[in-house]
Amino acid sequence: MQIILCESAEHVGVRAADIIEARVRQGPAVLGLATGGSPKSTYQELIRRHREEQLSFGQVTAFTLDEYAGLPPGHEQSYYSSIRREFTDHVDLPLGQLITPQGDAPDLVTEAERYDAAIVAAGGVDVQILGIGANGHIGFNEPTSSLASRTRVKTLAGATRADNARYFPEGDVPRLCLTQGLGTIREAKLAILVAMGENKAAAVQAMVEGPVSAHCPASVLQLHRRAVIILDPGAASQLSMQEYYREAQEFNDQLDRSPTRPWL
Ligand code: GLP
Repeated sequence: MQIILCESAEHVGVRAADIIEARVRQGPAVLGLATGGSPKSTYQELIRRHREEQLSFGQVTAFTLDEYAGLPPGHEQSYYSSIRREFTDHVDLPLGQLITPQGDAPDLVTEAERYDAAIVAAGGVDVQILGIGANGHIGFNEPTSSLASRTRVKTLAGATRADNARYFPEGDVPRLCLTQGLGTIREAKLAILVAMGENKAAAVQAMVEGPVSAHCPASVLQLHRRAVIILDPGAASQLSMQEYYREAQEFNDQLDRSPTRPWL
């Protein structure tokens, strides 16, 4: 794991965008996109680079992480609508290259299997962007999710539904979802997790410094060959080894100049 400590949410977005840009400029790329508040500063920075620095997403295929069950893609709160609103509608990624699980598919089990197979058929995800839930979930893999799980139907935890209730003014937060599994996410060639705010600090500490455990699903990233964790001061506040992470980052930044290995 590489831990990058940043001074602000905006700085988190810049560091994440640096890594994504380096990969996208290399040629055709498969990105994994998370929704939610955490990646917003990353998407805003990528949109800025698209507008001002000719960063093109024309050769990118994007797979989203998860989707609420029962919501058609056009529903305002679907993650399909959300990722379009927050990111893809503002860059030149062709709409046909934005791929999401169909939350309103008649057979969700088959849809989950189809989605998992589509990721494999695309050659796998090159760079997966992740947020983390306050209970340690990534995607919608709630605590006790199998560390080997594939894309499947999950029941949302009460805490997650409460966290996301702010997006559903009618109070009708779905109970089920489709989510890439922890085993699926682990296959991404590079995983970037961004987190900000003190309400994520305990989950971040468990993910980075706790045991690998289904109790904190994000801790599966300890088994990932290339996971980069980018944090603002609030999200990093419970980490016990901050001094080491800073030293390592200063050294890594000196090595970061190679455009082919931006995530050293
Ligand atoms: C949501 C999403 C996750 C997201 C997480 C944190 O429920 N399924 O992909 O990373 O919870 O959300 P936020 O970034 O808004 O705090």
